[in-house]
This record gives sequence, C-alpha cells and structure tokens, in this order.
Amino acid sequence: MKKEDKIKEAESKNIILTGMRPTGVLHLGHYFGVVPEILRMQKIADTLLVMIADVHALTTLEDSANLKKNSLILANTYLASGIDPEKSIIFTQSQVPEHAELSILLSMVSPVPMLELNPTYKEMREDHPKNNNLGLLAYPVMQAADILLYKATGVPIGKDQLPHLELAREIARRFNARVGKIFPVPKPLIQEETKKILSLQNPEKKMSKSHEEKSRISLLDSPDMIRSKFKVAVTDSETEIGFDEENKPAISNLLTIYSLFSGRSIAELEKEYEGKNYAVFKKDLAEVAVESLSPFHEKYKELEADPERVKSILRNGAQKAREIAAKTMAEVQEKVGFLDC
Ligand code: TRP
Repeated sequence: MKKEDKIKEAESKNIILTGMRPTGVLHLGHYFGVVPEILRMQKIADTLLVMIADVHALTTLEDSANLKKNSLILANTYLASGIDPEKSIIFTQSQVPEHAELSILLSMVSPVPMLELNPTYKEMREDHPKNNNLGLLAYPVMQAADILLYKATGVPIGKDQLPHLELAREIARRFNARVGKIFPVPKPLIQEETKKILSLQNPEKKMSKSHEEKSRISLLDSPDMIRSKFKVAVTDSETEIGFDEENKPAISNLLTIYSLFSGRSIAELEKEYEGKNYAVFKKDLAEVAVESLSPFHEKYKELEADPERVKSILRNGAQKAREIAAKTMAEVQEKVGFLDC
C-alpha cells in the first residue's frame, strides 16, 4: 500500500479514545454526561479505547495510596455502566509503556511557552504553587500521546477539556510537519445536548467532586444517602414546581435529573407536580433515582467482589492496546530517524 493510502485508510476509520483520571467515585454529572456518550461511541466506533489515566493522576495526587483503589473504582464504573470488553479496549495507561515513550518524542515539538498558556496549568500553578512540577506542565503532551498512539480520530470530551485537545491537535500538526504526516489530527467530540447537572447545594455551579459531599449524588451512594441528599437539596425562594433555569435554577436542576432518570419529559413532570410541594417532589425523585441506579449498583457490586476478574479484563485490554501502540511506535521511530538495529 502506498504511504498516502495508508494514512487515508487510518483516517477513514473511526478510532475513538476516551480517558479519565481515576480520582474517586463518579457522580450524576458523569452518569448523564460522559457515560452515555461513551456508550454511544461503543456502538459506532470502529475501535473504542477506554483509558484509565493513572499516570495523569500522579500529576496532582499527593499520596499514591489511593491510586490502586481509585483505578479499580473507575474500571468497575466503566464496566458496570456497560463498557463491554468484547467490543472496546479498556485498559490502564500505566500498563502501556508506549504512552511514556511517545510523550518524550512529542515533547520535542511542544514549546514550553505554548504549554505555559494552558489554562488548566495556570490554575493548578496558582492553586498549588508547591506542586508546579514538570509532569503538570507536560500534562497535555502526555494527553496528546494517549490519543496519537492509537491514531485516534475523535475524542469525546467535556468543554473543560477543550484546551487540552486543542494542544493535542497542535502537537499532532507540529509532529507531522517535522517528520512527515503520520498522525490524524484528532477531533473533539462534544455532546452539546447533554444537560449540565448542577450542584444540589449551589445551583450556580456544576456538580463536582471538589465540592462538599452533600452537593452531589455519587454513583456509589446507598439508597438512604441518595434520599437524604435530595431531601436537603437547596430549593428556590419561589415554591411553585416549574422549569425556569434563570429564576428557579435549583428546582430546574432537580426537574432535569428527574426527567433523565425517569425518561419522562419536563412538561409531563410539571403537570404531575402542579400545586404539590417540594417535599413530595423530592421524595418521589429520590425513589426514581434509587430505582434507576439499582441495576448499576448490582453490577458494580459483582465486579467489586471480584477484583481479579477486573484486573484480567484490564490486562487483556492493555495487551490489545499495546499491539496497536507497537505498530505506531515502529513507524514513529523510523520517521524520527532512529537506527533500526
Ligand atoms: N485530562 C483528562 C481528564 O482530566 C483525562 C485524559 C488523559 C484524557 N488522557 C486523555 C481524556 C486522552 C481524553 C483523551 O479528564
């Protein structure tokens, strides 16, 4: 096959890579956001790679004690949500050393001033001045390596990850310009319609791991925790149950969550709860949430009880990933000019 044809063939395939740092239990924002998007990709991609970014987690994790635990939590969460190891390649980044190898080579085309402009880096440097390490600066270079190693054409991400993806694209272009075209420039796949899930305590903010515990429903919360968190969720000064994001952000957020869990439209819910009070609404919402999450919980518990099985799934995934990675690295080594001896 001619070189150009090879590149065309790679580009015409739909190779999708998604990744998350294992930093703890996921919450409803993920459950209704990134998770369904990944499941959709599992249906349409030629290859879907689902990566647990444990190396990236080290850029901010102060102690490593939690890393193993959190990596398993993320693997269990992906698998319990419907990632199927028969269809997709699920693996941990650290088990594929080619990620580190490619990162080093990509760093040669990544100007430091460009990386210093990365908004996430700027934030981190300000918030944790003691943690201003090279890994943090090189974070987007590593992320570019994650994507380019598999010649991924698309990356499903939330808006907050756009600057990282923009840098990955720039690094791909620079590397191609330096050694000859080898990488497709990956496209961000942003799902616009996904409803943002907001904090249960402050509907001005997104639901987030970094806010207080009762502000979010974590995917591993017990039914009673779910009930009590909805019970104490803040509401708006106006007591009418109706959807109005501007004036009634709290109840609008709860209506969104109710609608997503139940599959019923907001209008239908507004009608049902017309004239009823918040307490009744929240109680019903909690029950719908508990019931909807219960199949996930069950699958999760099964996986949690058998970590060896999960590790073997990850081991298989890493093996498949390494097969692709080795091919790319052979090409890269040739292109950059290393002797093949
Ligand atoms: N930076 C991503 C996050 O914090 C995680 C990540 C690492 C990633 N490598 C990636 C995401 C490659 C997409 C593609 O969520």
